[in-house]
Amino acid sequence: MNTPFVIDYKPHLGKKTDYGIGLIGTGGIVQYAHIPAYRKAGFNIVACYDLNPETARKVAQEHGIATVYDSLDALLNDPAVEIVDIAVPPWEQLKIVRQVAAAGKHMLCQKPLSESFAEAQEIVRMAKEAGVKQAINQQMRWDAGIRASKNLIEQGVIGQPTDAQIAVSVLTPWHMWPWLASAPHLEIMFHSIHYLDALRFLFGDPEWVTSRHARYPKQAPVQGESKTITVLDYASGLQAMTNVNHYNEYAEPYATFRFLGTEGAITGTIGLMYNYPTGRPDTLEITSEHYGKGVKITPTLDEMWIPDAFVGTMAGLMEAIETDTQPRDNSTEDNLNTLRVAHAAYLSAAENRSVRPSEVK
Ligand SMILES: NC(=O)c1ccc[n+]([C@@H]2O[C@H](COP(=O)([O-])OP(=O)(O)OC[C@H]3O[C@@H](n4cnc5c(N)ncnc54)[C@H](O)[C@@H]3O)[C@@H](O)[C@H]2O)c1
Repeated sequence: MNTPFVIDYKPHLGKKTDYGIGLIGTGGIVQYAHIPAYRKAGFNIVACYDLNPETARKVAQEHGIATVYDSLDALLNDPAVEIVDIAVPPWEQLKIVRQVAAAGKHMLCQKPLSESFAEAQEIVRMAKEAGVKQAINQQMRWDAGIRASKNLIEQGVIGQPTDAQIAVSVLTPWHMWPWLASAPHLEIMFHSIHYLDALRFLFGDPEWVTSRHARYPKQAPVQGESKTITVLDYASGLQAMTNVNHYNEYAEPYATFRFLGTEGAITGTIGLMYNYPTGRPDTLEITSEHYGKGVKITPTLDEMWIPDAFVGTMAGLMEAIETDTQPRDNSTEDNLNTLRVAHAAYLSAAENRSVRPSEVK
């Protein structure tokens, strides 16, 4: 049976896609996600810079990037660089944004904007004052299963959303990010922030956040929380939950989403989490009054979180530049509300209570 609904999950590119991109930081995520995505989309990487010049040179050579700069200033002085793509540890981001904004360049920031909410607000303010476009690379909004769910929910396929769950139980390769081992805030700030942002993308801002956090006895040297359960209560009565465990050493791994409503349900798997960073395509299963009783629709999603969703975040910034608007789906201003939910989760866990996101100032 053909679905009567449009399932449109691929990133949309604007008319102009040849903006010169300068990469700041050429570490893991840039090598296995940003560059493959931009190559696939035909974007124009013109230069790169990394604090570690050897890394920058090696990456430039391997990926055919014409110019390697030995300072941020030098990259910012290059008129061919129109967009700066920042991918450094979060505590480095503020000072880089300050220089990028002063140079009058548009920028794509990495998530989290900062671990400090005050710093994140400053990052947003600096771009606004400089009159440059600033977007966030919070790309699960372009993950195929989530984007498909978004357009199906908007078309009324599940009716009124009542119950949303993202449940992940995997063995995460934390060694890929040695600098995260000492982070006091780990799971929510660096991982579930994707799920919280995806839930906000699908359902808007919750009224209340309730979160419980735990550690795994054998997780040393990793210090922060590695298992969390977070409940978002919405004014509509919708209840959403993320339930995430990064130390599933023995049981079958899973990474699933379930969005239930008064007229149907969407369920699926988050392919990336089965074998990070290689992953596999997401799966999707839709049941709806609108299809008829007992009918299940299982469209094939042929794009992957890595690299395809990374096309979406950069395309979102390019569209904002071309149309002189705020990025539609990934403005840093909107992302402050995702950070509010993340900080509310920490406050909730620390104080054993439910917290309104608006408490986070
Ligand atoms: N969006 C996602 O799904 C996703 C996934 C993984 C990582 N990340 C984020 O991307 C960022 C980078 O992560 P990674 O995994 O590539 O880490 P990484 O350690 O592999 O790479 C970071 C790179 O930044 C460079 N660097 C550090 N400070 C710098 C500075 N001031 N100027 C220029 N270069 C500098 C380092 O030399 C290194 O090469 C982090 O903020 C992380 O949270 C996002």
